[in-house]
Amino acid sequence: MKAIIFDLDGVVVNTAKYHYLAWKKLAKELGFEFDVAHNERLKGVSRMESLNIVLEVGGITGYSEEKKNELADRKNGYYLSMIEKLDQSEILPGIPEFLEKIRKAGYKTALGSASKSGGMILEKLGLMPMFDVVVDGNLVERPKPDPEVFTKAADLLGIPYEKCIVVEDAKAGVEAAHAGRMKCIGIGNPEILGAAEKVVGSTEGLMQVDLENL
Ligand code: BG6
Ligand code: MG
Repeated sequence: MKAIIFDLDGVVVNTAKYHYLAWKKLAKELGFEFDVAHNERLKGVSRMESLNIVLEVGGITGYSEEKKNELADRKNGYYLSMIEKLDQSEILPGIPEFLEKIRKAGYKTALGSASKSGGMILEKLGLMPMFDVVVDGNLVERPKPDPEVFTKAADLLGIPYEKCIVVEDAKAGVEAAHAGRMKCIGIGNPEILGAAEKVVGSTEGLMQVDLENL
């Protein structure tokens, strides 16, 4: 028994850019610029933790919990309206083919996403049947780099952690995989994701990865 656990944003679907644009819009309203380099720190991180980082970038301190909740809700509102028309064209290249290939090869598949919209997005894209288990931000308490999101997926699949491979585009996600004793394939920049057992530049590279010898 073996499994592959997928992050969602920036791995299965191109929604990482909408998270970024929604934070950028919020930052602008708060009076500062938020750029792609800052955004790297938000990848894989929960909504509230992301807000804390955004406020830190803007040098803003002292907001009450109530105010922070309002800002996080506002960002989520922007995000949800940006993804309202999300469709299959935003599924990242090669992902459906890779899912098909690994399932045929006997791997169980799971989603392991910090996003509370994770399940809803899979439904919207018609990808639900390709996943045996879906763990999203509604089911976990501790954000990546804590391994909870991945260990929960493995537990639900009934597969030992050592037999799981995680696919991630975030540094926090690579750390979470390793904290859960799982191997990891990074999607993106090797300078950022270098701790992963293998890094490919984009999802198109997944088909070429030798999964049995990571
Ligand atoms: C992660 C994204 O998958 O989910 C983060 O990489 C995002 O950018 C996080 O903040 C939480 O998502 P949501 O949809 O619950 O705000
Ligand atoms: Mg991601």
